[in-house]
Amino acid sequence: MSLESQITSALKTLVDPLSGQDIVSEGLLQGLNITSSGKVSFILEINTEYMNEGLKLKEKATSLLEKIQGVTHVQIALTAQRKPKAHNPLAKEIPGVNHILVVGSGKGGVGKSTTAANLACALQSMNLKVGILDADIYGPSLPRLLGINQKPSSDDGIFINPLEVHGLKCMSMGFMIDEKMPTIWRGPMMQKALHQMLRQVKWGDLDVLVIDLPPGTGDVHLTLAQTTLLSGAIIVSTPQDLALIDARKGLEMFLKVSVPVLGLVENMSYFLCPHCQMRSEIFEHGGVHKEAQILGVPLLAEVPLHIAIREASEKGTPIVLSNPASPEGNIYQNLGQRVWASLKKSSKA
Ligand SMILES: Nc1ncnc2c1ncn2[C@@H]1O[C@H](COP(=O)(O)OP(=O)(O)OP(=O)(O)O)[C@@H](O)[C@H]1O
Ligand SMILES: [Mg+2]
Repeated sequence: MSLESQITSALKTLVDPLSGQDIVSEGLLQGLNITSSGKVSFILEINTEYMNEGLKLKEKATSLLEKIQGVTHVQIALTAQRKPKAHNPLAKEIPGVNHILVVGSGKGGVGKSTTAANLACALQSMNLKVGILDADIYGPSLPRLLGINQKPSSDDGIFINPLEVHGLKCMSMGFMIDEKMPTIWRGPMMQKALHQMLRQVKWGDLDVLVIDLPPGTGDVHLTLAQTTLLSGAIIVSTPQDLALIDARKGLEMFLKVSVPVLGLVENMSYFLCPHCQMRSEIFEHGGVHKEAQILGVPLLAEVPLHIAIREASEKGTPIVLSNPASPEGNIYQNLGQRVWASLKKSSKA
């Protein structure tokens, strides 16, 4: 049997989890190339919704092919073939709000709220009308990050006036849920509170509503995706492996509920010394970049771990506003521009 037939027969034993057919008959294999020295390379075209399965297929294919005599090296490139499902027919727009953008992360504490707050301010400084909603029922933090110390009012007891801060319209689930309420009681309250936040707040006309999600892939995410037409999602991850695995789960969840993932943000990407401005790669830097390539989504920003970012947040004015000319301020401004460009490209441009 020729080397090529041995390779295709081996690959035919691998099954595409989506169709149940083998990957060769399914046409997922493209550009198979075998050099005279036994180097095998090809593209494996998979659906982004099944990225984890794609990665497993790639591993299995590599180990199968490496066992074949005459094969010296195997290189498989995964490409994502995007087939987003139609939006949930029950998902509705929020009247007056042009784009709803969610900021999520697979794991807690990676800097999602910091990113959401700086991104909202960056978009606002581009003369866009921007709102921000803190949908983290378990640890609402935007009021602190944006320096809010009052509660929203209502003129008629039904509709809520959002708070205005730094030119942003702002609401937090924290306003609706008593901080002392035990965590297990918060879940059942969530759907009602989320509905109120989206439908009973006078958001007015907005170009973008940024939603800071709770970490992980829980009820808030699903309820949001099922009830509200979301323009896109951004996933924040730190460079460590564990956070990346979690980020992948986050990405898969958004794709499963048909929310386009606009890209990844690597936070705490490297350490910038506040004294000498020296850059140190504390974690192996570049992990998110590689992951973004594998997943076929853009890496929108690499944000350093810098004390000024935390200090600005603690003072209630995100760094993109308090020090827009700083390198970190610039990174968030660029992020805002990239996000806006990709929202404009999306269906409702
Ligand atoms: N790039 C950064 N440089 C320095 N500090 C940062 C950076 N990003 C976030 N932080 C700090 O790390 C802590 C966690 O950030 P943040 O609250 O934004 O994370 P989160 O993902 O929203 O967390 P949670 O999952 O609890 O909601 C905060 O104290 C924040 O000020
Ligand atoms: Mg948070």
